[in-house]
Amino acid sequence: MIDTVVFPVAGLGTRFLPATKAIPKEMLPVVDKPLIQYGVEEAVAAGATRLVFVTGRTKNAIADHFDMAFELETELEQRGKHELLEVARQTVPDGVECLYVRQRQALGLGHAVRCARSLVSGEAFGLILPDDLIDNGGDGVLAQLVRHHEQTGASVISVEEVPREKTSSYGVVDVESFTGRSGRICGMVEKPEPAEAPSNLAIVGRYVLDARIFELLEETRPDQRGEIQITDAIASLLQERPVDAYRFEGRHYDCGSKLGFLQATVDLGRKHPELGGEFSAWLENQ
Ligand code: G1P
Repeated sequence: MIDTVVFPVAGLGTRFLPATKAIPKEMLPVVDKPLIQYGVEEAVAAGATRLVFVTGRTKNAIADHFDMAFELETELEQRGKHELLEVARQTVPDGVECLYVRQRQALGLGHAVRCARSLVSGEAFGLILPDDLIDNGGDGVLAQLVRHHEQTGASVISVEEVPREKTSSYGVVDVESFTGRSGRICGMVEKPEPAEAPSNLAIVGRYVLDARIFELLEETRPDQRGEIQITDAIASLLQERPVDAYRFEGRHYDCGSKLGFLQATVDLGRKHPELGGEFSAWLENQ
């Protein structure tokens, strides 16, 4: 079982300025929930009971969001607003623990994951990059990966096909062959130019990783930009232990970009239980 999921949330979110000047980008709402909450719900649905947030100096709103809001809850209770009270309370369910550790310097995603080391329990853990929002009618992507891990014991990373010209925005994996949705990874490169990319299978931000990755991250050298990449550490891991790629079911939105954020907002707005009908009808007439 995977009980711990790590969320690297220390990035400055400069692509969304000025919206992110005083608010963490993970707290920007997609329809009526902050982006980070979609990732948290996916982790909880996959069975996680320990959520580790790797934060930075400007990220206190995230911890507040998953904490009890005493004044708000008292007020809602007194006014008899029970439904809203539940919404405010259930940002994280009872029995799920939130832990916070700070990444003091922006030294890359691998470094952020390394910061979580002492808070991760178990032999394997989940990793969610909340910028990647994945909408799914059924099982969340992390649950799909956890199931694959339970069946095989392998570390596993979600991937999807991207147009060749986009490989330089992603980690790209080399897989010899697939059986169904999964295949063993034999190599991976962080953000290769299209001509150098081993395939067009891009890593999307969901991973189940063997805890050996923490030792390998200690040995991983920074890249040309001075960042320690998780991709480089996983490339070392797969020399020792099995790491699989998993073609997940679900629609991926890159909410690290404004376009992806807008697309997620429109699609999730159309499916919203209260607003969906009216919003879709309005869109049709534009
Ligand atoms: C990170 C990873 C990359 C992965 C991507 C998915 O890159 O380093 O391998 O493909 O997330 O969103 P970032 O988008 O943080 O630059």
